[in-house]
Amino acid sequence: MIFNIYLTNLLKAFSLALELTDGGLSRHHWRTAMVADRIGGQIGLAQGPRQNLLYAALLHDIGAASRWDEKNSLYSHKPITDLYWHAEEGYRLLVDSPLFKALAKPIRHHHDRWDGSSPSGLAGKDLPLAARIINLADTFEVLINDGRYILDQREDILAAIVRHSGSQFDPDLVEALGEAAYKDSFWFDLATPHYFDHFFHSLQSHGQVRLNIDGLLGAAEIFATIVDRTSRFTATHSRTVAAVASFLAGVKGYSDTETKIMRVAGLLHDLGKLTVPNQILEKPGKLTPREFTVIKQHAYYTHRILTQVDGFELIAEWAAFHHETLDGTGYPFRIPPANLRLGCRIVAVADVYAALREDRPYRPSMPLSDVEKIMLDMAAARRLDADIVHTLFAAGDTVEEILPGTCPA
Ligand SMILES: [Fe+2]
Ligand SMILES: [Fe+2]
Ligand SMILES: [Fe+2]
Repeated sequence: MIFNIYLTNLLKAFSLALELTDGGLSRHHWRTAMVADRIGGQIGLAQGPRQNLLYAALLHDIGAASRWDEKNSLYSHKPITDLYWHAEEGYRLLVDSPLFKALAKPIRHHHDRWDGSSPSGLAGKDLPLAARIINLADTFEVLINDGRYILDQREDILAAIVRHSGSQFDPDLVEALGEAAYKDSFWFDLATPHYFDHFFHSLQSHGQVRLNIDGLLGAAEIFATIVDRTSRFTATHSRTVAAVASFLAGVKGYSDTETKIMRVAGLLHDLGKLTVPNQILEKPGKLTPREFTVIKQHAYYTHRILTQVDGFELIAEWAAFHHETLDGTGYPFRIPPANLRLGCRIVAVADVYAALREDRPYRPSMPLSDVEKIMLDMAAARRLDADIVHTLFAAGDTVEEILPGTCPA
């Protein structure tokens, strides 16, 4: 299996997951990245730093993604208690990643003020250039009102930015933004959803970074961490599913690369959970029917985000069809059993196993003997693939030994 995944394409898709709220998919990171890139072009930024600027802009609020309240405040103009918390959290998520460590500092300082009055104390050109650009592009983007004709907003938005030149923003960059915004087309591009595809595609056509499977695993690990942090009950859920699913893939004769792809699918299977408010994920009592439908939408969003990545078709299926069943009544696509690939059925088994072995708000972790009984019953009712369930329990202790966290016996 040959991998041909562009990092830009991957981050373009994954950045959608960062701002998933009850409004579904929005475009804050895309638009911030586009404005940042225009500023970078205006000041003649070289290709390497301009590429990193784009990646950092696409991920800039990554530290807020696990917290529903935090991201809702960021995108709905509500006052936010601590503007710097999510920036620091973003830094911590990325600083040890071989692929993303260059983005950690720009993200850490993306709300730092030019005048040095932010908690870091850094001022002026001591702040990373990419951080100064993202600060400006991010504020600019939040000022755009999608309900108003874009050119009617031009003067007000530019005036609001200029007012903070030299205090919040680097004055040279404010000037560069003003020059880029001189063209009407700059504004029309911001207001034309289809333009984004053209923008990102044009970036990919000139020598962008391509990922191998290990790079992809590194990126998937970070997003798995974000998803698992949405609830203290799922602290290792995605990693457990990844470990069990890749183990089963190995037993079923998948190649080394396919087994790694299975790990990626396991790490990302619940990506769409970022659309579910933390209060629902952590609710101790019984869920209302409405809350349950909100939970169920996660598999839909996992699929819709992953299919945005060219070359991810198989990963999207393996990851997102984990609640589809062999009687055709699963969700959210009600896939007919004949179309449910082995890889999807493996992730489904791994997911149920992981969930039953973990504590939940409404019950403690279950002992292995109970887990086995429940899963055999589910297989008999065609909710899970019987052959894979038997493979799992035939492996005995081996499975428990590969789990990332400690489960009670
Ligand atoms: Fe931010
Ligand atoms: Fe799920
Ligand atoms: Fe899951």
